[in-house]
Amino acid sequence: MSAPDVFPPAPEVSAAAHISSFEKYQEMYEKSVREPSEFWGEIANEFYWRVPPAQPFLNYNFDVTKGKIFIEWMKGAVTNICYNVLDRNVHEKKLGDKVAFYWEGNEPGDSTSITYAELLKKVCQFANVLRDQGVKKGDRVSIYMPMVIELVVAMLACARIGAIHSIVFAGFSAESLCERILDSHCTLLITADGFFRGDKLINLKLIADEALKKCTEKNYSLKKCIVLKHLARDDAICDGSSKTSPPCKRLCQNVQGNKQNRARQAVPQTTWNPSVDLWWHELVKKASMECEPEWCDAEDELFILYTSGSTGKPKGVVHSVGGYMIFTATTFKYVFDYHQDDVYWCTADIGWITGHSYLTYGPLANGATSVLFEGLPIYPDISRMWQIIDKYNVSKFYTAPTAIRLLMKYGEEPVKRYSRKSLKILGTVGEPINPEAWLWYYNVVGEKRCPIVDTFWQTETGGHVLTPLPGATATKPGSATFPFFGVVPAILNESGEELEGEAEGYLVFKQPWPALMRTVYGNHERFEMTYFKKFPGFYVTGDGCRRDKDGYYWITGRIDDMLNVSGHLLSTAEVESALVEHSSVAEAAAVSHPHPVKGECLYCFVTLRDGHEFTKSLTDQLKKLVREKIGPIATPDYIQNAPGLPKTRSGKIMRRVLRKIAKNDRELGDVSTLADTAVLQQLFENRCQTIQS
Ligand code: PRX
Repeated sequence: MSAPDVFPPAPEVSAAAHISSFEKYQEMYEKSVREPSEFWGEIANEFYWRVPPAQPFLNYNFDVTKGKIFIEWMKGAVTNICYNVLDRNVHEKKLGDKVAFYWEGNEPGDSTSITYAELLKKVCQFANVLRDQGVKKGDRVSIYMPMVIELVVAMLACARIGAIHSIVFAGFSAESLCERILDSHCTLLITADGFFRGDKLINLKLIADEALKKCTEKNYSLKKCIVLKHLARDDAICDGSSKTSPPCKRLCQNVQGNKQNRARQAVPQTTWNPSVDLWWHELVKKASMECEPEWCDAEDELFILYTSGSTGKPKGVVHSVGGYMIFTATTFKYVFDYHQDDVYWCTADIGWITGHSYLTYGPLANGATSVLFEGLPIYPDISRMWQIIDKYNVSKFYTAPTAIRLLMKYGEEPVKRYSRKSLKILGTVGEPINPEAWLWYYNVVGEKRCPIVDTFWQTETGGHVLTPLPGATATKPGSATFPFFGVVPAILNESGEELEGEAEGYLVFKQPWPALMRTVYGNHERFEMTYFKKFPGFYVTGDGCRRDKDGYYWITGRIDDMLNVSGHLLSTAEVESALVEHSSVAEAAAVSHPHPVKGECLYCFVTLRDGHEFTKSLTDQLKKLVREKIGPIATPDYIQNAPGLPKTRSGKIMRRVLRKIAKNDRELGDVSTLADTAVLQQLFENRCQTIQS
C-alpha cells in the first residue's frame, strides 16, 4: 500500500493544542492580516514595556517606486528583550528554578544544566563585564564561540545593555570572521580557547587571532578580546570561587575518565596577546550579578547576522528588538505547540538564525526548557541523538533535513535502541525535505504519532513564515503548507504578475510581519536592491515556489545564485572569488549539484592559466583555499577542469548549462545565446576526469 498524501493531525494532538483546528487557524490568520496592529497588539501586551506600544503600531513602505523602504513595528515603545526573556520569567512568572538549558557536551556524560535564575545572574554579571570594558548601547560585539551556555550568556548580556551582537558561526574561517568584524566595526570580540567537534580539536582562539591579525593589516584594531576557557575549564573554574557555576558543577561531576579530558591533556597552550586578550573567568569574578537593563526603543537594532549574498559579499541582516521578540515568541508557542512541561531540543548551532530564534530568544521568551547540544549527530556513535532524546525526555525536536538523511543511512536499528516515547512534535528547517526523508522521520523517529512541522523561513524573515501548526494543519510530505499569522505570500511570474490558484513562480510576501529584517547593516540601498527592486511592492525571498490545487505551498529551491549545502546558504560568487585567488586559476564557476545527504553540494569548474596543469594536488589546494577563505561548509565536492566556460555573447556564464553538465544531462534546452558551443563537448568529456572528494 502506498503512503497517504495527506497526514491530518491526530484527534488527541488537536485536542491538546493551542490551535486545535484548521478553522481556528483560519480565523486567527484572517484577523492577523486584516488587523495586524490589533492582532500583534494583543500579543505585545503579554510582554513587559517601559513605555507600551502606541499608534501607529505598524508603519511601512514596501514599494521602491514610492520612496525609501522601511518597516517599523511599535516604534516609540520602550522595552528590553533580555528583561523579557529572563527577569520577567524569574520575577513575574516565578520560573526561577526552572531549567532553561540542559547542556550536553561533545562527549556523553559531559553535561550540566542552568536554571532561569542562574542564567539571569550570569547574564547580569557578564553584562557588567561588557560595560566595564566600555561597551555601550549601539556598539557592535562580535561573538565567535562554540555551543556552550556562555554563548547564550554573551548574547543576552549584549541585549541587556543595548549592544548589538554579531555572532559568527564557529565553523567560519579567520577570513570570514575578519570580514564580518570589519563590516560591522565591532569593538570587542568574545571567543573561547577551543572545542571538540567529535574527535577533532578546533583551536578557536588561534583562528580568532588570525582574524584579528587580518583586521590589523586592514588598519582596524579591536579594543579587546574576551576568551572563555572551555577546553581547559577545570583548572580555570574549579578554584573555589564559583561554587554556583554550572561549568564547575559539570566538571566536578564529570571530569573523571571521559575521553574529552584525555584529549584535553593534548590541548596546546592558548596563544595570548596581553594588550588585547582577557580571560572571561577572571573578569566575571569581579563583576556584580545585578545589572539594570538599558531600555531600548522597539525599533533599536538587536543583532546583526551575516548571510550569503549573491554578489559574494555577505549581507549583515539587521533585526530589531520589539518585532523580533514578539514574533519569535509567538511562532515558537504555536508552531511547536509549546506547553510548560515540554523539553525542547533544537539541534541548530546558535551561529545561524535558527539558533538565534529557536534556541535562544523564542524558547526563553516562553520560559521553556531546552537542550543545548555541543556535539555531532553521530558522535561517538550513530545513536547519539536518540540517546539524548531519552536522557532528557525531549518532547519537541527540531532539526534539519540533512541530519535526517544522514541518520536515515544507518537504518532503523540505531533509532529503535532508544524508546523516544517522550516525543510529541518533530520539526524541520533549512532546506526542502524530500518526501522519503519526511516519511522516515514520521514513521521511524516519530512512530506515526508525532506531527511534522516543516518550517520555511530565512535569516531575513527572523522566524517561521510558512509552516504547519501541529494541531490544525493536515501535512503533505515536502510542503511547508500555509502562512503563519501576519504573513501574506504570493507567487509571481517573471513579469511580476500575481498568479492565482495552482501556480509556480517567485515566492514573495505582500506585507511585513514583526520580525522581518529592517536593513542590511551599513547598506540600506543593498537591502532595497536585493529584496524589493525586482518586484516593487513585494519582499522577494529568492526562492521558487509552487502552490498546489489545495493551496499548499511547496518550496522548489533558490532561484538566484545561491545554493543550500546542509541547510546553509552559500553564494556561488563567494566560492568563485576564493577559487580565482589561486595562482593557477584564470576563471571559475561554481554551481549547485544534488547530494544525497547534504541536499546540494558545490560543483566547481575551473579554467587554468596557460602552462598550469590540472592535477589531484591542485584540486586539493583549491579545496583547502575555499575552506580557509570561507569555512569547511563551503568545501567543493567536485572540481572540474574547464578549458572553456559556456558564456553568452555578452560574457555572462550560463550556470544553467553548467548545472546540466555536472549532472551529465545532455538536454541543455535553449543554447542559442551561447557564444561558442564547442566548449560544451569538451566539458562533457572532462566530466569523466572529475576528481571527487
Ligand atoms: O531556500 C530556502 C531554504 O533556506 C533559505 C534560507 O536560508 P537561511 O537564511 O540560511 O536560513 C535557514 C534557516 C531558516 C531559504 O531561502 N529553506 C529554509 N527552510 C526551508 C527552506 N527550503 C525549503 N523548505 C524549508 N522548510
